Amino acid sequence: MQIKATLNQLFSRALEHLEIPSASVSVVEAGKPEFGDYQFNGAMALAKQLGKAPRQIAQEIVEALPAHPMIAKTEIAGPGFVNIHLDAGWLATALQSAVADARLGVGRKEEPIRAVVDYSSPNMAKEMHVGHLRSTIIGDSLANLLSFLGDDVIRQNHIGDWGTQFGMLIAYLEELGEGAEGSLHDLENFYKAAKKRFDEDAAFADKSREYVVKLQGGDVRCLELWDDFIDKSLGHCEEVYRKLHVNLSREHVRAESSYNEELAQIVEALKEKGLLVESRGAKVVFVEGDENPLIVQKSDGGYLYATTDLAAIRFRAQELGAKRISYVVDARQAGHFKQVFTVARMAGFVDEEVRLEHVSFGMMLDKNGRPFKTRDGGTVKLIDLLDEAVERAKGAITQREAYSDEELEKIAEIVGIGAVKYADLSIHRESNYIFDWDRMLSLEGNTSLYQQYAYARIRSILRKYGREPEGELRLEDELQRRMALKLLQLEDVLHAAAREAMPHYITGYLYDLSTLFMKFYETHPILRDDVSEALRQSRLLLAQATAKTLSLALELLGIKVLERL
Ligand code: ARG
Repeated sequence: MQIKATLNQLFSRALEHLEIPSASVSVVEAGKPEFGDYQFNGAMALAKQLGKAPRQIAQEIVEALPAHPMIAKTEIAGPGFVNIHLDAGWLATALQSAVADARLGVGRKEEPIRAVVDYSSPNMAKEMHVGHLRSTIIGDSLANLLSFLGDDVIRQNHIGDWGTQFGMLIAYLEELGEGAEGSLHDLENFYKAAKKRFDEDAAFADKSREYVVKLQGGDVRCLELWDDFIDKSLGHCEEVYRKLHVNLSREHVRAESSYNEELAQIVEALKEKGLLVESRGAKVVFVEGDENPLIVQKSDGGYLYATTDLAAIRFRAQELGAKRISYVVDARQAGHFKQVFTVARMAGFVDEEVRLEHVSFGMMLDKNGRPFKTRDGGTVKLIDLLDEAVERAKGAITQREAYSDEELEKIAEIVGIGAVKYADLSIHRESNYIFDWDRMLSLEGNTSLYQQYAYARIRSILRKYGREPEGELRLEDELQRRMALKLLQLEDVLHAAAREAMPHYITGYLYDLSTLFMKFYETHPILRDDVSEALRQSRLLLAQATAKTLSLALELLGIKVLERL
């Protein structure tokens, strides 16, 4: 059950009953325990609007509030806050049924939609870089989350596999012949070597240009070379996805090149709508409030990144029937998406009711606050970064227990990758974030390891107990009451994170939850002999609910948990 939404409804009904018009009612979580669990702060604004005293309005609202078993009491505080205290008995009962449910009581959306999530989307000419790492991690968690909440999610990997660089790359591929296999292992070097040939040898440069034309003209040999190149490059990406435990495979690839046939139509459609303007030989569309137009066709007839995006957006809205299209791409492309969205709507490619969103994110910075680069200023290879995460994770865990090599490898993989993903997801995605190994692999603070330890600790208790806890869940004290409330807030948090595409809501929630659990664990013995069986069962249920919540939420973020750590 969504607690906050339910409270909002109750307050809306009270306002309706009082015939007070109000645009939006919003109950918030109380900042301090003395203020109850939630607060309604609307009375002050309504007082101004109605010319009455705020406390009096608050009083009227409280009196008109429909009774609900969830609410134990309300009280009016300060200038006119309504403090809401939830009922411990209700919390216990609700939690008891949630813990018995595979979805932990989290409902699906009432009106599920088809949603497209465009993420990862690397360029094939080069190695994936850190920007794509962020896109992959954030996008995958968003896709998992939406689909868990009932949306029909279509993942789209909009890979960049078209453009003039490919003429040069396939010319070089052909030149290397059999020897290409080894060189393609490192795309970054392959690109550099091809570029060097291009710059130094006029004949090679001519051939490259010729190949671009041939490729675009559908020449079979060139297409073969190109296919081969894309296949290898995509293979690199798939290695990254595998290591990252990300749900992207070839079926999700909808490459830029797949829209080639439609680009002329797109330009034609813009023309028919009267949106197309010639500007210095190029075909462009002006968007209100922006002095730079969106260029859709160059003077030489070539199409651009934006043209492909218009074709893609039309495909997603019209063919796929998406009602929400999310682009998980770094913040530097904000201008591009703003224009593409506006033009797509002006052209009628996308209806008003379709939600278009740029799920933008900031840069990944090094410890000194500079853009993340290798020591010599090159791009960091993601594969190396992920391997390093696993290596470092070994260091972070061996100090604690003795594992066999095989066990250690498996654990380090989960801990290391989890740390990279969690660190990324736990900050507000729009801010830049500092990539710091020590912090991300720390046991203290809001880290994946902290959550994974809390989970493993509970699993160990449940293993020792050896049976499924049953019995009745009772909330013995304020700490347990707060734990129960936190656990039941899962649904609110997941829906908010999905709605706003904000994974850090979930990590913040998990941190609160595991912190409460650790306090509980330190002060409430469970398996000790002097604990009565009834209490033991109840405490086990609370612990079990915590473990299930941790693993479900982490799984949605794309992070695995370990039964032992
Ligand atoms: N390939 C682009 C890049 O690496 C990202 C593509 C994002 N998706 C899109 N539909 N434009 O910058």
